[in-house]
This record gives sequence, C-alpha cells and structure tokens, in this order.
Amino acid sequence: LKLLVTPPAGAQTVVEAQEGLSVMEILRDAGFESLPAFCGGCLSCATCHVYVDPAFAALLPPMSDDEDALLDGAEQRRPTSRLSCQIAFGPALDGLTVEIAPDLG
Ligand code: FES
Repeated sequence: LKLLVTPPAGAQTVVEAQEGLSVMEILRDAGFESLPAFCGGCLSCATCHVYVDPAFAALLPPMSDDEDALLDGAEQRRPTSRLSCQIAFGPALDGLTVEIAPDLG
C-alpha cells in the first residue's frame, strides 16, 4: 500500500504504508519532521494537519466536531484540511495523496 506525501518544502515522496496505522503514524514513522504530531493522536494538538487530495474525500472517515474545532485553530485551514491522526489507513486508501500543511510545529 502506498501513501503519496508532499512536505511543505519539498517534492512528492512515495511512502510504503501499513494497514492499521493512522496516516499520522505512517508519516511520523517515515520521518517527516514537518509533521510533529505532538499529542500522539489524542486530538488535542492539530500538529498533524494535512491537505488531502479531493479525489479521496469521499473515502475518508467523517470529521468529528472535535477535529473540526481543532482545525478551526489552524492557521492555514483549507476545505481539504484534515488531521492525519484521524484517518485510519487501509487498502481503500491505497494511493492516498496528502500535502503536509505549512503551519505546523
Ligand atoms: Fe495531535 Fe493529531 S497528532 S491532533
């Protein structure tokens, strides 16, 4: 399974992704320092902010009110913004394309 990632200042990279992890965990394990994910997935930091390719929007889990509220505090929220710790990765999302938001850290 693959995840395609574009860091804030860099070219798109293909990451081998494991089912059962969140997109945040996959990015963290792959060493993307531009995604600090300080709270470790507890939905309290918003430092796992990514923009998701709209082509995948319908496949993503729905956004909770808590995620929505946290994203409201993010400086550069866009319509495609999500918190990557809230996206469980699996075969349905193979080829998912995300961009790491520049407002982290
Ligand atoms: Fe903190 Fe996602 S890692 S909200």
